[in-house]
Amino acid sequence: MTDHVLVTIEDHILHLTLNRPEKKNAITRDMYRVLGNALSSAETNPEIRAILLQAEGDAFTAGNDLADFGAVVSGTLTREEMTFQLFLGALARADKPLVAAVQGLAVGVGVTLLLHCDLVYAAENARLTTPFVNLGLVPEAASSLLLQARIGYARAYAMFALGEAVDGRAAAAMGLVTAALPAADVRQRARAAAQQLAAQPIGALRATKQLMRDPAALQAIMDRENEVFIARLQSAETAEALRAFAERRPPDFRNLKD
Ligand code: COA
Repeated sequence: MTDHVLVTIEDHILHLTLNRPEKKNAITRDMYRVLGNALSSAETNPEIRAILLQAEGDAFTAGNDLADFGAVVSGTLTREEMTFQLFLGALARADKPLVAAVQGLAVGVGVTLLLHCDLVYAAENARLTTPFVNLGLVPEAASSLLLQARIGYARAYAMFALGEAVDGRAAAAMGLVTAALPAADVRQRARAAAQQLAAQPIGALRATKQLMRDPAALQAIMDRENEVFIARLQSAETAEALRAFAERRPPDFRNLKD
């Protein structure tokens, strides 16, 4: 168990709060496990009618913990011990409404998980990036399909391949998030939306989401992405990117072969 994710139920809403602000809420294996298990059990808990995902501190999340990626690269962590698939699978299967409140930075999975949320409120000055290629990696969480479906191929490619950032206001304008608000209002707005959803007829909400999303198709894309992602994690490109991050210098990929 970790206190880096706070799990509470209030007013029929499951609150999942990332609580590792000193590391910009980078998500560790333990955190993925807690998030995945909480999401899965919410589906069968009649007390829960909506789920709210939020974060403490000035960042939503800096994405996957890079130390865990480093452990895969060095061989101290096996692919079977990675738990992000547990969380991503639970996101794909979630039938109950998911609401997210995003302030500050949202990096990598911090953006791709939003593609599985039904309502997303972002701070106008939030900064959303998916720098998978910068790390020698590829998109995950079915984002190879979902991001381009949401914002079009050209913008999705620029986010993936160039690591281009999108602020909250632009994200709302291109339909990547539901709305952009002053940072101070984001959590309150997301909570109000979750309360509104919790008061709606849950059978109709569930049926609507089932019509709008196909969990089996999403899982099939994730499985394909995972294969490539895990292989890329063991590449010389990722090793260089992680070394550069640890040494606080820009990576140099020029002498590396594919
Ligand atoms: N994994 C592990 N630790 C992380 C992290 C991550 N993804 N992102 C940030 N941290 C840690 C930093 O190492 C630092 O720890 P320290 O204080 O012990 O040195 C702390 O969080 C604060 O980060 P810092 O880099 O000092 O803050 P910043 O405001 O200058 O930059 C980021 C914030 C998010 C832009 C920068 O940390 C970053 O690029 N992180 C990596 C993001 C990433 O590539 N995620 C994976 C995407 S797939």
